Amino acid sequence: MTDTIHVLFDEAALDKRNAELAAAIAKANYQNLLVIAVLKGSFVFAADLLRALYRAGVPLEVEFMSLSSYGSGTKSSGDVKIVRDVDANVDGRDVLLIDDILESGRTLAFAKSMLSERGAARVDVAVLLDKKGKRVAEIEGEYVGFDCPDKFVVGYGMDKAHSYREVPFVGYLTDF
Ligand code: IMP
Ligand code: MG
Repeated sequence: MTDTIHVLFDEAALDKRNAELAAAIAKANYQNLLVIAVLKGSFVFAADLLRALYRAGVPLEVEFMSLSSYGSGTKSSGDVKIVRDVDANVDGRDVLLIDDILESGRTLAFAKSMLSERGAARVDVAVLLDKKGKRVAEIEGEYVGFDCPDKFVVGYGMDKAHSYREVPFVGYLTDF
């Protein structure tokens, strides 16, 4: 069955917001910044935000980390696994985690405390979408693209069972 995808944030809105987020991040004046994109869902947002950061004049290095708290369906399983770790030593560095959605917050709370334990000087969080009503862990994003309604969203890197990551805008599915 094909899903109908309703546009929630279109390409122009995403571009504009990425430039605003980059300007806010530039103001924070991070030192020796390591940006960690949390795969897989953040890959499109991260690609755009990183280039917006370049335009905003923010020097940085990029790493990737793959964490999994979802199976292949649409419900969170609750426990977080490191599927792929960063290669870099984070000791003494400012770290900015980039993810697609802050929902229960378990994934990013886990990543944040792990990086702090490894000696990161500062660990901040940039997320495209914030599902505030769903928070379980005590964590907020320092940089939030948009508040997200309580709908299952796809596109711009986000998937439903590995489909729809390629959709160039953020949309929601009716049938969920
Ligand atoms: P949490 O904050 O640990 O609950 O997990 C958030 C993660 O769940 C996000 O990074 C997404 O990978 C996934 N997720 C949460 N809500 C959605 C959604 O509406 N669509 C697609 N993935 C979602
Ligand atoms: Mg994710």
